Amino acid sequence: MAVMKAGLYISEKQVMVGQIEIPDLQPGEALIKVAYAGICGTDMMIYSGKHPRAQAPLAMGHEFSGVIERINGESSFAVGNRVVVEPTLSCGTCAACMAGEHHVCKTLKLIGIDKHGGFAEYAAVPLDRLHLIPEGLSDAHAALAEPVAVAVHTVRRSNLKIGDSVVILGAGPIGLLIGAIAKHAGASEVIISDISEYRLEKAKQLGLTPLNAKDVNITEDVLKRTGGNGADVVFEVAGNQITAKQMIETVRTQGQVVVVSVYKQPPMIDLAAMHFREISLTTTRCYSKGDFAKAIRLMHNGAIDVSSFISHDLPLDRIEEGFQFMSNPDVSLKVLFHP
Ligand SMILES: NC(=O)c1ccc[n+]([C@@H]2O[C@H](COP(=O)([O-])OP(=O)(O)OC[C@H]3O[C@@H](n4cnc5c(N)ncnc54)[C@H](O)[C@@H]3O)[C@@H](O)[C@H]2O)c1
Ligand SMILES: [Zn+2]
Ligand SMILES: [Zn+2]
Repeated sequence: MAVMKAGLYISEKQVMVGQIEIPDLQPGEALIKVAYAGICGTDMMIYSGKHPRAQAPLAMGHEFSGVIERINGESSFAVGNRVVVEPTLSCGTCAACMAGEHHVCKTLKLIGIDKHGGFAEYAAVPLDRLHLIPEGLSDAHAALAEPVAVAVHTVRRSNLKIGDSVVILGAGPIGLLIGAIAKHAGASEVIISDISEYRLEKAKQLGLTPLNAKDVNITEDVLKRTGGNGADVVFEVAGNQITAKQMIETVRTQGQVVVVSVYKQPPMIDLAAMHFREISLTTTRCYSKGDFAKAIRLMHNGAIDVSSFISHDLPLDRIEEGFQFMSNPDVSLKVLFHP
């Protein structure tokens, strides 16, 4: 059996480079020679030992680009094509799938969580999960298509209208990308909070208004900046009890809150306060194939420049270091590996 190098999750806080078999191709799959793969919040959850589905040893990584090495079946793709992987795997038969809403499939699975992913030399990927990387978009930038697609889908799920004021709670990669997309979608001002000065500096570079939650009272500051009314749309992207409270306090009467975070523990939410001011609350999950294609287009035409998001570009051999960098929001935003 031919083997390859892979960056493996072993157990809580333990990752290492090891050898696993090069995956066999099922009919309708392509073998991708990985170019770049990014660490995402979900990989950090696996790393913390708390992901309910991930089974060690696992080659993580669901945000990756590469080149088609081999194809098993008929396809419009060709060996040698540069591609980026849309990592969702849906069942095709549940009610959501039957309605064409594959991203909310009852048993949604992800490449890199439920099967080996992009922290490896090669990955097997169904052909219908591949998107061509247009000429002019680099493999490294294309590896960020997945989080950009999350932001595209999130802003589409919101009721954001041209000229709206926006608050984003949490300036991680997802919060910052939502900020960039919201600006592009016509937001007049985007205020973003975090507790990491490093990430708030990135926010400033993107033309967003940064607020450090360690220094100011976020609710008071937002109200002051919005004429005492609150923002039209609030995105909650930090995932803790403090921001779950702030999301209701910082939105205007009849405004909209979008919860993007995946909460580790269910937060308390003041429904009475929402009721008095007729606040709407929306949630969001992943992206559709169309959102993914739009994310690629927005990066390709320069509307979204992800270069400032890549804080580290490391060989896969340095996987332990990569996870340590990502554990510290004061030094990292997006860590990319190349095998
Ligand atoms: N809905 C989806 O499909 C989807 C997709 C991807 C990620 N997510 C979720 O979105 C969230 C954000 O993802 P990420 O990759 O940017 O994660 P992240 O952990 O890098 O970002 C969270 C940010 O919140 C900041 N923060 C912590 N406490 C804060 C506070 N009190 N006020 C303001 N900011 C605070 C942190 O410093 C960090 O920068 C996670 O919960 C993730 O699971 C959801
Ligand atoms: Zn991701
Ligand atoms: Zn399904």
